[in-house]
Amino acid sequence: MTTQLLLGQTLSFTGDPFLQPWTDCVSHHERGGVLIADGRIAVVGDRASLQAAHPQATVTDYGRDLILPGFVDAHMHYPQTRIIASWGKRLIDWLNTYTFPEEMRFADPAYAKAVAEETLDLALRHGTTTLCSFGTIHEGSADALFSAAEARGMRIVAGRTCMDRDTAPPGLRDTAQSAYDESARLIERWHGRGRATYAITPRFSPTSTEAQLEALGALWAANPTCLMQTHLSEQVDEIAWMRDLYPQARDYLDTYESFGLLGPRGLYGHAIHLEPREIDRLQEVGAAVVHCPTSNTFIGSGLFDLVGLKRRGLSVGLATDTGGGSSFSMLRTMAAAYEISQLRGTAVHPAQLLWLATEGSARALHLDGLVGRLGPGAEADLVVLDLASTPAIAQRAARAEGLWDTVFPTIMMGDDRAVRATWVAGRSAPRPA
Ligand code: GUN
Ligand code: ZN
Repeated sequence: MTTQLLLGQTLSFTGDPFLQPWTDCVSHHERGGVLIADGRIAVVGDRASLQAAHPQATVTDYGRDLILPGFVDAHMHYPQTRIIASWGKRLIDWLNTYTFPEEMRFADPAYAKAVAEETLDLALRHGTTTLCSFGTIHEGSADALFSAAEARGMRIVAGRTCMDRDTAPPGLRDTAQSAYDESARLIERWHGRGRATYAITPRFSPTSTEAQLEALGALWAANPTCLMQTHLSEQVDEIAWMRDLYPQARDYLDTYESFGLLGPRGLYGHAIHLEPREIDRLQEVGAAVVHCPTSNTFIGSGLFDLVGLKRRGLSVGLATDTGGGSSFSMLRTMAAAYEISQLRGTAVHPAQLLWLATEGSARALHLDGLVGRLGPGAEADLVVLDLASTPAIAQRAARAEGLWDTVFPTIMMGDDRAVRATWVAGRSAPRPA
């Protein structure tokens, strides 16, 4: 493969800006470049010295555009792509009215294939190069997404969603045994193949029986390099429902913990209304929680305590949660995280937002060092942002003073129009029509 040299502004992180002053964590080259060889980042540095040292490299000059690691969306539901922005419901009603009827359609592998391809093309158009998705209860739903990601060369995390309780509608229910067997087959087929990771996926404890949670805990114990993704304490009504279904549980996290579904490779989406014991346990085991800000405001769930949980030492990823989330864009997602941080009284810095959307999510998915990082050795998944992509952003950026004042308008107001290019494993991804 030829050596590629991408020229533009570059921004790399050398530490976690939630734990150290962000000024100590950022390396910025205003006239920078990224050298790519064999699908990986070889060097990030000054444009002139890279050009002098690598005269044979194929150059793509992005001018003053900002080169970042591709965004990592740590929690989403590709089967909900076609019901994004459905009006007027809160979590349980929203699931019953919009989500479950749509998820039934994934019994048809051709439908699953079409939506998987559409979702990944939308992700790439928005600068997202890795995502972690739920499937439906259909084995083929996971096959469809893994296949579509493989065809695009994308790093992907996904799993077949498991629901066997009568709280899920007939037609969208499996059994403890079929959930185990089909998940095991998918692990065999996909986990560690190319750029794929399998995530064992109980939807959430209200739609699983104890027997199913126990079976999936056993599956995880037998396949400890897999991730495990689920939902936790998203909405107050949901927590009350969980208490009715699991009267013996100490708290929501306990419904997972007591069945072997709490561990360092666990991903717990939302995690808004946590008890002190839950925070302690998540921190002790090194599990990750995933912040889904556009979903939290869209479904009316509540205000995630980003700064507080980061200070407590939790691993936190950032995610769209489409179609509960209202955007495929991680820029829009960062903007919503900023707005929620303001409502909680601590404005997060743009450096913290960009770190969360890249390295933070990659760490949550145990993919750090591979993706989410603009540094030597990382896989060359990149997004190139035009920092003046619309007239509204351009007029603000023209008055900006310094890097962050220039970048923040694109975080707050940008969308897919800000994405000049997306690179996947060292190749420029074609922009679908
Ligand atoms: N809790 C259980 N399932 C879902 C889902 O599909 N979306 C969201 N936002 N929360 C959930
Ligand atoms: Zn979700």
